[in-house]
Amino acid sequence: MTFGMTMRKNNSKSGPFILATVSGKGGVGKSMVTVNLADTLRMMGYTVAVIDADLGLSNCATLLNEQVDATVAHWVRGQCSLEDLPLDSEGLTIITGASKPGLSDHEMEMLFDAMDQVIMALSDHYDFIFIDTPAGSGALSLWALDRAHLGMLVLVNEPTAISDVYRFCKYVLQIDPTYPFASIINFAEGEDDAARIHERFNTILKYFMQQQISYLGFIPASEQVRASIRDQTPLTRLQPGTDLVKEFEYITHKILEKAPETLVPAASQTVRNP
Ligand SMILES: Nc1ncnc2c1ncn2[C@@H]1O[C@H](COP(=O)(O)OP(=O)(O)OP(=O)(O)O)[C@@H](O)[C@H]1O
Ligand SMILES: [Mg+2]
Repeated sequence: MTFGMTMRKNNSKSGPFILATVSGKGGVGKSMVTVNLADTLRMMGYTVAVIDADLGLSNCATLLNEQVDATVAHWVRGQCSLEDLPLDSEGLTIITGASKPGLSDHEMEMLFDAMDQVIMALSDHYDFIFIDTPAGSGALSLWALDRAHLGMLVLVNEPTAISDVYRFCKYVLQIDPTYPFASIINFAEGEDDAARIHERFNTILKYFMQQQISYLGFIPASEQVRASIRDQTPLTRLQPGTDLVKEFEYITHKILEKAPETLVPAASQTVRNP
């Protein structure tokens, strides 16, 4: 499968495990989930990079209270070098695509190539690469899914959000019926609620597409999440050991089950059993 792009998905066992965080609707928690999962894996001892591909509206660095001076857009314009792009946040690497909107068509075209080069440059050094995407089924989300080994769909229990993500998922599955999607339910009322939302989504997929996706876990709607965003500190750093952080650990455990076995012994596992 490719979505009309030039580079094929990296299926090699030795490279990094690449995850794309996508959704239909905006504001469902993609960036929050991406940063906290990436930081959970980093705290477990893995080498982790986050590529913020929400070009122009990037906010992963903001969620980590980090100032971005060099972006892939700067590199494309010759204003910095590739080596300037990685930003370190307590051992977690962040690469920002573009921190301001208004890229020309030509710059956008160059940006896709540049982002591929970034992935290649990171590949020798990282166990995991997360790609955070803009809302919807635009070219950047498709690019990210095309590069990823796992597409993480952030689902919330709203009819418009579910129908948007269904249409996106359907589009991708029509191109590649075997595309590995998995759900994360955000703003869930609890485990049972999350399981119901996931099952409802799978029922629709099964009925119309004869497909099923797997379940990674849920994050409850929580004032602690809002506080961590206001504080610009991921929950993993702000409130280690809390039930909320255990939900992120549970999801990383499920991710590790999907990652190549060669990665697993590389770090000490501290996650609880599901
Ligand atoms: N589990 C949660 N509990 C409470 N609030 C949450 C939760 N998840 C996300 N939020 C709120 O939703 C807002 C949007 O989250 P986030 O920026 O991660 O979404 P997004 O999907 O990346 O948005 P965009 O589509 O704009 O990139 C956050 O600023 C936060 O206030
Ligand atoms: Mg976002």
